Amino acid sequence: MKALVYHGPGQKAWEEVPDATIQEPTDVIVRVDTTTICGTDLHILQGDVAAVTDGRILGHEAVGTVTEVGDAVTGFSVGDRVLVPAITKCGRCAYCQRGMPSHCQTVGGIGWIFGHLIDGTQAETVRVPYADTSLYAVPEGVTNEQAIFLADSLPTGYEVGVLAGQVRPGDTVAVVGAGAVGLSAILTTGLWGASKVIAIDTNKFRLEKALEFGATDAVEVGPGTVAEVIALTDGLGVDVSIEAVGYPETLLTAASLVRPGGSIANIGVHGTPVELPMQDMWIQNVRLTMGLVDTVSIPTLLKMVASGRIPAEKMGTHSFTFSQMDEAYDVFKHAAANSALKVVITPS
Ligand SMILES: NC(=O)c1ccc[n+]([C@@H]2O[C@H](COP(=O)([O-])OP(=O)(O)OC[C@H]3O[C@@H](n4cnc5c(N)ncnc54)[C@H](O)[C@@H]3O)[C@@H](O)[C@H]2O)c1
Ligand SMILES: [Zn+2]
Ligand SMILES: [Zn+2]
Repeated sequence: MKALVYHGPGQKAWEEVPDATIQEPTDVIVRVDTTTICGTDLHILQGDVAAVTDGRILGHEAVGTVTEVGDAVTGFSVGDRVLVPAITKCGRCAYCQRGMPSHCQTVGGIGWIFGHLIDGTQAETVRVPYADTSLYAVPEGVTNEQAIFLADSLPTGYEVGVLAGQVRPGDTVAVVGAGAVGLSAILTTGLWGASKVIAIDTNKFRLEKALEFGATDAVEVGPGTVAEVIALTDGLGVDVSIEAVGYPETLLTAASLVRPGGSIANIGVHGTPVELPMQDMWIQNVRLTMGLVDTVSIPTLLKMVASGRIPAEKMGTHSFTFSQMDEAYDVFKHAAANSALKVVITPS
């Protein structure tokens, strides 16, 4: 088969590799019908993720068809259309049992293993460990182009942003960063009855998208950002401030927008220390949350996509075939210049 193989920083190739095969009785093999690229794949290609070594097949998001099942698999059969989520879970370890498979101990000490600790989904076929507890059947009425965004970005914006930030009816919410993840938070915040959703970004195209995805206000980053958001909330600040970029300055912006009693929900992956003004924050009765997505909200999100409440397909702006993998990476890497959000990649 062919797959996108990592060969060290800056090096990748769509090349011939051995077919994916069943290794454990709990495995299934999935033919990849749709995949996409995540910002994390770009971090890997920059050499930022040391655990990813030469020869690893990249990718941790897929929708596909089961082609082979291990002897112990009871929940899936050949021909089933399935969503392969970014997080793999055994279902039995202490973290899986408390609903936190992001830290599944059985699959490798962390639930994110595809394109990280084992071969990933940017390939013609992929081996899925612990298939019964990890895969999701895709309901009829949900297309591959919708389901693919439930593998990572939608659950991330929803779980690590909206749910961790405890958005409640009537709340005012700020989302710093309107990329795929921030837009996912914007798409799902309305489901909790937020009265005002303020998108904040440096990029005009992303801000236009944010308004299409349900933001009530858009604020372009500049010297007056904080004052502008405070003015939009009657001088109080927001109830929930969601950070979806991953830089010190964006977390500091998110922290300065929250009102007393509110929540700061950090989603961004940070690569450097952040100095928080604790001398001002300690007295504010605010919460700060952070963490890796669990993807346990996928069944909920699938129902809402099926019923039309979440237009997940809006996330895909560009389509490519497997043989155009390099082009797909180029467009995604320069997403702002290409007016791109997420790319949809299919066999042909
Ligand atoms: N916690 C998790 O489990 C998890 C999972 C997936 C992704 N992430 C992280 O979430 C973050 C967002 O991911 P994404 O895929 O949406 O990334 P993205 O690059 O598509 O989006 C980031 C957005 O931030 C905007 N931005 C850049 N600088 C800014 C600034 N100074 N102020 C305001 N906006 C600014 C960009 O214009 C862009 O629209 C990343 O850090 C990613 O690694 C976390
Ligand atoms: Zn990802
Ligand atoms: Zn587990």
